[in-house]
Amino acid sequence: DIIKKAFMEGKMLRPGQELSPTETEEIGLLYETVINFVEEEKKEEELDNELVDYWNKVYEEQKDSLKTRPPVVTVMGHVDHGKTTLLDNIRNTKVAEGEEGGITQSIGAYQLEYNDKKITFIDTPGHEAFTEMRARGAQATDIVVLIIAADDGVMPQTIEAYNHAKDAKVPVIVAINKIDKPNANVELTKQQMVAKLNLIPEDWGGDTITVPISAISKEGIDELLEMISLVSEMEEIKCKPNGQARAVIIESKLDKFLGPVATVIVKDGILKTGDYFIAGSTYGKVRRMIDDQGRTIKKALPSTPVQVLGFNEVADTHSILYVTNSLNQAREISGKKKEKEDLANQNINKKHVKLEDFMKM
Ligand code: GTP
Ligand code: MG
Repeated sequence: DIIKKAFMEGKMLRPGQELSPTETEEIGLLYETVINFVEEEKKEEELDNELVDYWNKVYEEQKDSLKTRPPVVTVMGHVDHGKTTLLDNIRNTKVAEGEEGGITQSIGAYQLEYNDKKITFIDTPGHEAFTEMRARGAQATDIVVLIIAADDGVMPQTIEAYNHAKDAKVPVIVAINKIDKPNANVELTKQQMVAKLNLIPEDWGGDTITVPISAISKEGIDELLEMISLVSEMEEIKCKPNGQARAVIIESKLDKFLGPVATVIVKDGILKTGDYFIAGSTYGKVRRMIDDQGRTIKKALPSTPVQVLGFNEVADTHSILYVTNSLNQAREISGKKKEKEDLANQNINKKHVKLEDFMKM
């Protein structure tokens, strides 16, 4: 009935489609029901803005003392195009071999040194089911390395991944992988870059840095790292080097033994054990931090990926973690957010409503 009604109003919907707050309100109106989602979203934004304002002010005041931080580089691309293998070979590890069915199902974050400079890498899954993780990866990063296998070319998730990078306004370096394979076709892959992504490789007169590599034989990997360093120098990736931290949450889960944990990348300041924080409507105290090699650390500097223990519940993966002055402050801010959320939930159970949910109302 909703699909029909919306269609009569010139709006195409399909079963199972997620609706934005605005769309939900529009459909509500077709049934003469007022749903105040957009208002609620705005209120939530206002709260976030308090924190954003605070940080903008900090940046304004500390403009001269901002320091360069290591780049955060997210590796993205279609399933099996060689993202994990590339990172394995850069880090001399073997993550890819231990993965279920050879498919990455979570976001991994690692830091390494290249020519005495640190680079933080985020690995993302290429399987089509993990759109949300790819979007998150693109949002949290300074540079995207888009991997395209030379024996497979530009595929659906190559295009999707590129669109996330574009949305996030992040510079993209293309790595054409698997050039060691006999059926690798670099020229054809470049043609597809132009035709399907509108990206023109530098050696074709465009401005997209394109590096042919083999994650297995390691050919081209040095050049790729060189290009990453170059782009990060041009991007002037800055941070507030000291003081209270701000970090982006790239993954969170409930661990059977550790409780709610989140993988975060520190963007500003220094995150310390014992710090109080909020993240979305969750809060906590940093009980323990574990680095990418499983070691417990007491301090995490900007661009360091680290697992944080001590959340009151599983954190929202969209959220930013802000260190607060006290537990009370953390509770208060998260409490305010929770109230807003509960209010919205009284209207409906979920923010993004599926058509089925509508039927039940
Ligand atoms: P998802 O995380 O599931 O999206 O896959 P992925 O992009 O991480 O691919 P992964 O690194 O797991 O590699 C997939 C397969 O391609 C593995 O069997 C790798 O050994 C192989 N592979 C990756 N890079 C190369 C390469 O440069 N040359 C050759 N010959 N094989 C490669
Ligand atoms: Mg992988």
